[in-house]
Amino acid sequence: MKKITNAAAMMIIICLLSSCSQAQKTSVDTQHATANEKILIVYLSRTNNTKAIAEIIQNNVGGDLVAIELRNPYPADYKENVEQVSKENETGYLPPLKTKIDSIEKYDVIFVGFPTWGMKIPPPMKTFLKQYDLSGKTIIPFNTNAGYGVGSSFQTIKELCPNSTILEGFVMEGGKEKEGKLLVIQGKKRNEAETEVKKWLEKINIVTASKEKNTAINSIGMEFINIPAGSFLMGANDVKAYASEKPQHKVTINKPFYIAKHEVTQAQWEAVIGSNPYILDRSNPYYNLPGMKKRITKPEHPATISWNDAQAFIKKLNEKEGHNHYRLPTEAEWEYAARAGTTTAYSFGDNSNKLDSYAWHGEDFASGGTHPVGQKLPNAWGLFDVHGNVWEWVQDKYSDTYYAQSPDSDPNGPANGNQYVVRGGSWHETATSWRSSFRKAYEADYRGISIGFRLVKTAD
Ligand SMILES: Cc1cc2nc3c(=O)[nH]c(=O)nc-3n(C[C@H](O)[C@H](O)[C@H](O)COP(=O)(O)O)c2cc1C
Repeated sequence: MKKITNAAAMMIIICLLSSCSQAQKTSVDTQHATANEKILIVYLSRTNNTKAIAEIIQNNVGGDLVAIELRNPYPADYKENVEQVSKENETGYLPPLKTKIDSIEKYDVIFVGFPTWGMKIPPPMKTFLKQYDLSGKTIIPFNTNAGYGVGSSFQTIKELCPNSTILEGFVMEGGKEKEGKLLVIQGKKRNEAETEVKKWLEKINIVTASKEKNTAINSIGMEFINIPAGSFLMGANDVKAYASEKPQHKVTINKPFYIAKHEVTQAQWEAVIGSNPYILDRSNPYYNLPGMKKRITKPEHPATISWNDAQAFIKKLNEKEGHNHYRLPTEAEWEYAARAGTTTAYSFGDNSNKLDSYAWHGEDFASGGTHPVGQKLPNAWGLFDVHGNVWEWVQDKYSDTYYAQSPDSDPNGPANGNQYVVRGGSWHETATSWRSSFRKAYEADYRGISIGFRLVKTAD
């Protein structure tokens, strides 16, 4: 072990005192479903038990996996290691790290994993927590130990990071190096760990529960995804935002709801209404353009219909299934589900060059048209075509000044108005914006070839 003088120890402590505790918490309360958030999984592991848990976490949530390495590694001998740790704890020495994490600010959620050492958090993890500014971030501890528990380690994280949100940690018995049992989280025990980690991640809402539990399928094969209650920032304040999208404001959706993965298809329309939507008169002449009918009258393409038509469809589907659970999303529910936890221009970030991967957009009337639903990438909550293919009617009436006075809890649109909101953007190039916050209005009886809908299903 290197001899460290008290003065040197003090220097290091002072140098590292940037600490998570300085900045103010800025994040808006969101639920912790994070498929869309940037995740870092950082861990310390000597005999690879904590590493196994870190890998399992990564398999479930994605994110960047980083092993903490020291500038001066601990002794290989267990006893010497215990002694060194004990001294470091006595003096408050923070061993410098070899590992450097680039742009910590880009991470929203940080899993912090370590073994229990001397019934405390290992000193290198203290170095990590003090070296980086983690304020405003969500920290999720995980631990393996020899069967004596986490000791004071989780409490130490709370103390070192008072301005972070600390979620319930994961604890599992790992090795017993003292008795020569090194890596035990392997084979059958690793399978058990996988099950336990999954349960924990669901409990703390980091991953939505297993697909079976969180999706539903109805009598006409329409698939739904459960969206948890939560808060988000609705609208946009940036330069690209129109006045109708401002002010950006916090909105809370108080109840979970199911929203369809896809826009309603013509096949689904026919299953409920009994005929193809294109036998209905169109408010615009585009359906009769050369080739258009052939290109867009297809069972797996979205049904493009009026707001009134959507209500007729919903009424019939509710009757068919004998309840009153289907409706259009409110405008707030739509944007909440479309954003999937993001505050960026699109559900995939701010880079419009990526639009091609996520959306049918920007086509012309000569060769373009709708496309089968679900062919592009979904957003982080599993919803397809939110930024394109067809605009989607929502339940709310439209007012371009609504956001200035809308309630912050379950808003459902202005009481009066002649027009209803459409959201999301369409296949057609004249759709001026495909951003998550963009809003547009049409009369309830407008029936074109670029506005469809997506259903919400509620529990009551
Ligand atoms: C220096 C040292 C101190 C330890 N102290 C404790 C302890 O106080 N309580 C405990 O339950 N396990 C203790 N252990 C055991 C480890 O926490 C346990 O083996 C853990 O699973 C190791 O994780 P790893 O494989 O990721 O290194 C200690 C191990 C070491 C090396």
